[in-house]
Amino acid sequence: MINEIADGLALAPGYLDQSQQIAALEDIRKVVAAAPLYQPVMPRSGRPFSVKMSNCGPLGWISDKAGYRYQTAHPDTGQPWPDMPGSIARIWDDLSGYDAPAECCLINFYASGAKMGLHRDENEEDFSAPVVSVSLGDEALFRFGGSERKSPTKSVRLASGDVLIMAGASRLNYHGVDKIYPGTSSLLRGGGRLNLTLRRVTRQV
Ligand code: SIN
Ligand code: FE2
Repeated sequence: MINEIADGLALAPGYLDQSQQIAALEDIRKVVAAAPLYQPVMPRSGRPFSVKMSNCGPLGWISDKAGYRYQTAHPDTGQPWPDMPGSIARIWDDLSGYDAPAECCLINFYASGAKMGLHRDENEEDFSAPVVSVSLGDEALFRFGGSERKSPTKSVRLASGDVLIMAGASRLNYHGVDKIYPGTSSLLRGGGRLNLTLRRVTRQV
């Protein structure tokens, strides 16, 4: 079931069942063993994000004092990002409606107390491809607005296994995570939440 909750913004609640969530988590654990979660900081100010990040797939999204960008290597290890596991790539193939594979899977880890300020995903070359965003672990209060920071916003609670698709009129809209709800899922041993954000980065030739 896919519900359109705003123009171009669709939610597939419980898209991954329990065993698929466990399988995806196992695959992400392997990714993070090779490409450890690192501490991103804000451009210029150098203020740390409250989430930790890693990536898999050919391109990884990173933020450091120099800015936001995609790059092929982990900022700490210098190693290429691990391949995107099939369990994750498949979600894009099924839900994106786009005829080329995802190039980036950004992994955001939220410990209790972590959040993500309102922002737009706008570092990609091709906005005709959607953003497909997977939730695993503790529930989160996701806020979405419009094309301007001051546009009115609404909130939706995202649970483990839910997948959100930002496409069309919502592709460049502001969104963020206000809080997570500790103890609402037992998927992650130590608690917390993983968000997997799948994106196409380059324009198809
Ligand atoms: C993001 O927009 O980068 C993350 C969204 C989420 O954690 O659900
Ligand atoms: Fe985002």
